[in-house]
Amino acid sequence: MMPAGVALGTIRGDTMRRARLDQIPWADFHKLPLQKKGPYFQQGDGRPYHVIIAQQFERDGLDQLCQLATRIRRIAKSKQGMEFLASLLSHKRAMLDFSQPSTRTFLSFYAACQILGLRVGEVRDPATSSEMKGESREDSVRTFSSYFDMIVMRTPQQGFAERMAWLLSNTERPIPIINAGSGKDQHPTQALLDIYTLQRSFEKVGGIEGKTVVFVGDLARGRTVRSLSYLLTKYANVTQYFVAPEPLQVGQDVLQQLDAARVNYHVSRDFEAVLPLADAIYMTRIQDEWDTEAAESKRIDISQYYFKAEHLKQIKMGTIIMHPLPRRQEIDVAVDHDPRAMYWRQMRNGMWIRTALIATIFGRDQEIASYYQINLK
Ligand code: CP
Repeated sequence: MMPAGVALGTIRGDTMRRARLDQIPWADFHKLPLQKKGPYFQQGDGRPYHVIIAQQFERDGLDQLCQLATRIRRIAKSKQGMEFLASLLSHKRAMLDFSQPSTRTFLSFYAACQILGLRVGEVRDPATSSEMKGESREDSVRTFSSYFDMIVMRTPQQGFAERMAWLLSNTERPIPIINAGSGKDQHPTQALLDIYTLQRSFEKVGGIEGKTVVFVGDLARGRTVRSLSYLLTKYANVTQYFVAPEPLQVGQDVLQQLDAARVNYHVSRDFEAVLPLADAIYMTRIQDEWDTEAAESKRIDISQYYFKAEHLKQIKMGTIIMHPLPRRQEIDVAVDHDPRAMYWRQMRNGMWIRTALIATIFGRDQEIASYYQINLK
């Protein structure tokens, strides 16, 4: 693995200049547009080192990750395969630092580490750490880097994972940071598992290209939508719909990135009118944990944006229904039994794509490819 923060990025006007986090002051790095930050998180050969934003992924990297996830999934079906996978990173340790609630992201990273043999430490409640004695979050994370080889981090603080990637890359013990959800802004590994789910679902019908993806719910504050909407720009002729009540409608920053990528999109309040057009419906819950003291979510009626059993008749036979979960009432449990309900498989895909991501960060992807060629091809 390349040293932390050392990347051969493509910077406009200087394709061979190395984009290194340890050679750019924080003040300069922080104000770069997202696309220009991407190369700073990559390794010299283009593999990710830190995983912070969706904007660091290009189409070939997404295809490679999906292919690797599928190979891992198939290798993991046998005891011999599981033993091979568990030998790959048995000399490494991972820290899961989750200062916001999580079930799926935490457990799927935990399971991914187990699959690859990494041993895992965790802090889920800052009340049990020396932050209660006044230690800063930055010092806490730097402490983790003394004991572990990778940090997976969920934080309510927008930009904190990015800040820590820069900070650790400027220490004598740089290690990869994976953003497992930061503030309202990014959830890049959720977007990767969503892409993997879409890719698997549409494998036999031309792939993700040309499909219509409909986002529904709290699009203003949903970080999964922001990251996935960007990754979908890497697939040709995808149309995106954003369906929400006005106060929860998607932000201008998302629409601007779609404009920049010349992507076809529509903003709508009419859930029932859009349903028949969808190839994938991406439901999200209201994110009231971000409410102010005014509890503004309580004044928004989102019941007309719920997917009910009767809506199954209005969607196409091949349409898939996704949800990053957890859900509340956005999807009727009666829908769970329909073969188009993809959210349970989507969640399991998270374990495979996160395993593929960790294996790639630590440069074990080629060994997995070789094992697959010899034993399963
Ligand atoms: N989708 C997701 O991030 O779920 P958790 O909050 O349970 O991790």
